[in-house]
Amino acid sequence: MKETVIERGAIERLDSLMKPSGKVLVVTDDGVPVDYPSKVASYFSEAFILTIPQGESSKSFQSLESIISFLAGHSFSRHDCLIAVGGGMVGDLGGFAASCYMRGIDFYNIPTTLLSQIDASVGGKTAINFDCIKNVVGSFYPAKKVIIDPSVLSTLDDRQFRSGLAEAVKMACTSSSSLFSFLEDCTDARGIIDRVVRECVAIKEDVVRRDPQEGGLRKVLNFGHTVGHAIESASSGKLSHGESVAIGMTYFCSPRVLARLKPLLEKFSLPASTDITPDVLISYIRHDKKASGSGISTVYVDSVGSFEFRTLTFDEIEKIVYGK
Ligand SMILES: NC(=O)c1ccc[n+]([C@@H]2O[C@H](COP(=O)([O-])OP(=O)(O)OC[C@H]3O[C@@H](n4cnc5c(N)ncnc54)[C@H](O)[C@@H]3O)[C@@H](O)[C@H]2O)c1
Ligand SMILES: [Zn+2]
Repeated sequence: MKETVIERGAIERLDSLMKPSGKVLVVTDDGVPVDYPSKVASYFSEAFILTIPQGESSKSFQSLESIISFLAGHSFSRHDCLIAVGGGMVGDLGGFAASCYMRGIDFYNIPTTLLSQIDASVGGKTAINFDCIKNVVGSFYPAKKVIIDPSVLSTLDDRQFRSGLAEAVKMACTSSSSLFSFLEDCTDARGIIDRVVRECVAIKEDVVRRDPQEGGLRKVLNFGHTVGHAIESASSGKLSHGESVAIGMTYFCSPRVLARLKPLLEKFSLPASTDITPDVLISYIRHDKKASGSGISTVYVDSVGSFEFRTLTFDEIEKIVYGK
């Protein structure tokens, strides 16, 4: 069976797509419409649903403990499985719990946000946060199967949807000029989302296949994230991850790319600039986890559909940030 399935309506025919034996724990959060986890659970004779509070703060040891405690309390064995139904938060947490329990039980991922469908669910990275450090405790534990059903995106609010689109623009910018042009030509992003999901998953799968353990190439997915992370932190929750990445991309591309990127972001109601001062951004970048003594590894786009890695010193980064 194929590892990643992308099919509109897949959630309505799960029985033909996965055949786990034994007990099933469906892990979801309370922001995911209940119909989705209920539907998934209904296919299996012995299924339980564990709902955790929505939000990034649930990627924690406390939530991990609640999942492990549920599995142990219901006598789950190594032959049973865990299915995550939700966004990247649920996928990262659920995947990590599955990788730890009894040294690893089968994990299936059914991502329900645009970001998790195109980015987080494929590639096997699982994690929780600790001591305010994102994803610092985790594992590489690819799902036995990722089932992507674009129809579940209909319940996603516009802001979440746009945030996911920013990551799609990111992937197109570095890796597919045809996807970038397709996005430029589209008039209704929701109407073309199946193709966008399909092409982004193909890009992500290709990158992961060539660099499974994040040795190098996989860093291309960080395009826009160096300044983006700083903007996200400095905005104290006002800007979403995707909105911050949208702005972050504008710092690391050539003028000719910027001339196409800005109108595209504006069309999707994504911001392309910020009023956060360069001083503040620089101080956050200095604390970036990817910063080493000699500088920061960044991704630069000179021409749409291609990229290069550039290790920049702090002085060079400062010049770019002040130069905007
Ligand atoms: N593992 C990876 O490779 C990887 C890559 C990128 C991001 N991530 C992680 O992904 C997480 C962010 O993921 P996210 O943006 O999906 O956020 P999220 O999981 O927090 O979901 C956002 C919100 O959408 C709600 N939601 C989910 N599906 C919905 C639906 N179909 N309809 C309506 N509401 C729905 C959720 O309840 C939540 O409130 C972060 O923790 C990030 O670190 C992981
Ligand atoms: Zn991102």
